[in-house]
Amino acid sequence: MNLPYAEPYKTKMVEYIKPSTLEERKKWIAEAHYNLFNLTSDKVFIDLLTDSGTGAMSDKQWAEMMLGDESYAGSQSYLKLKDVVERITGFPFFLPTHQGRAAENVLFSVLVKEGDVVPGNAHFDTTKGHIEFRKATALDCTIDEAFDTIIHHPFKGNIDTAKLEDAFSNNPNERIPFVVLTVTCNTAGGQPVSMENIKEVSRICKKYNTPLIIDAARFAENAYFIKIREKGYEDKSIKEISRELFSYADGMTMSAKKDGLVNMGGFIALRDEELYKQATVFNIMYEGFLTYGGMNGRDMGALAVGLDEATEFDYLETRINQVAFLGEQLVKHGIPVIQPFGGHAIFLDANKFVPTIPRDEYRAQALAIELYIEGGIRGVEIGTILADRDPFTHKNRYPELELVRLAIPRRTYSLNHMRYIAAVLKKIYDTRDQAKRGYRIVDEAPIMRHFTVKLEKISPEPTK
Ligand code: F0G
Repeated sequence: MNLPYAEPYKTKMVEYIKPSTLEERKKWIAEAHYNLFNLTSDKVFIDLLTDSGTGAMSDKQWAEMMLGDESYAGSQSYLKLKDVVERITGFPFFLPTHQGRAAENVLFSVLVKEGDVVPGNAHFDTTKGHIEFRKATALDCTIDEAFDTIIHHPFKGNIDTAKLEDAFSNNPNERIPFVVLTVTCNTAGGQPVSMENIKEVSRICKKYNTPLIIDAARFAENAYFIKIREKGYEDKSIKEISRELFSYADGMTMSAKKDGLVNMGGFIALRDEELYKQATVFNIMYEGFLTYGGMNGRDMGALAVGLDEATEFDYLETRINQVAFLGEQLVKHGIPVIQPFGGHAIFLDANKFVPTIPRDEYRAQALAIELYIEGGIRGVEIGTILADRDPFTHKNRYPELELVRLAIPRRTYSLNHMRYIAAVLKKIYDTRDQAKRGYRIVDEAPIMRHFTVKLEKISPEPTK
């Protein structure tokens, strides 16, 4: 008999979280203009807003913090990190940045011009934001299966290579500065990309002499899925798989807040020295000198250790299985979620959960608000509010999927927390027929509105 898996770590320190009452939460969310980003953390019981920078560091990472070398130039912590990045990714040129979007900002400042087209599997919102801010287009070439929330495809993050070929045929070559491949694909539900697909995308990019850039925020989780699901990788280590994955690309941007197992940080890594040289100019302007780029020495040290820990199989097995445990509980209750389960999060399908709420009343946001009011659980809308308006027509772009993401921080919550979340959701699901109305926007920023948007409840009361 196979033994159940158990966490390959134990607790050395605890952080208390504060329960609250239903009445308190109703008041707090109204004061927050029904935007979960506006809630202060003391008003949240289980925080699933993001898995980004919210994980727990290990004792070895904390120990490394004490060894941080804060020299402005040539820090030893920088050298440690550079070595680990090269060992894990194979990229010889490396620039630290303060987080992932900063890496995008620096690299895209070199590569993206007005009128360009950047194809990829569903771009993350900051990636898209940095492309559109430069008056270029982020072209989504994800496979159609990704939009079917039930169909079991092992690699729903894959690029549809026919769509990618079309992108190259429909645009002059010089208009496509690079292709971006996000592993795992956050916007498509934390779904992985297969090695076969990465290879094929790389082959197409080479054919058109176009660089392939990996958005590597969750590369280790992607490598785990390749090991578990793709033939020929069963016996390879996560580090071997990661190294192979990066070998097909020309560079990467990294939000180290995910698979770097740190609370803040990021980097760019590249194969080409010339591109690196161009990027250094923007790194110095926007981030900091080449050997710190917006990071403390101690944080670079912790990241060096974190990258090694995140690419260990035992850690990843616990991580991915904890997320799947929550997913299985929800499926047992009949709750519609994206399947197969993503690596870092479970995604509730609001189109199926609350079809009674009109789409232009932001049904996924309405569900996320209900989850907070009912259980003090903070998820995040990945639907019409996040998709934002078309930059040219300024009208809402309705994405195919209206989701609520429950992102699980790494090494932070227990299985009991997962059981609690499932119980709260079951309660909401059992009374879902009463949900009729949603919310209207009363204030929104010109770009990336979801962070600061203010909403108003449409009466009659949407739920309860
Ligand atoms: N790329 C992906 C795939 C991401 O998921 C994120 C961040 C970024 C880039 C940007 O990195 O936050 O360090 O600037 N995702 C977070 C999330 C915010 O909640 O999914 P960052």
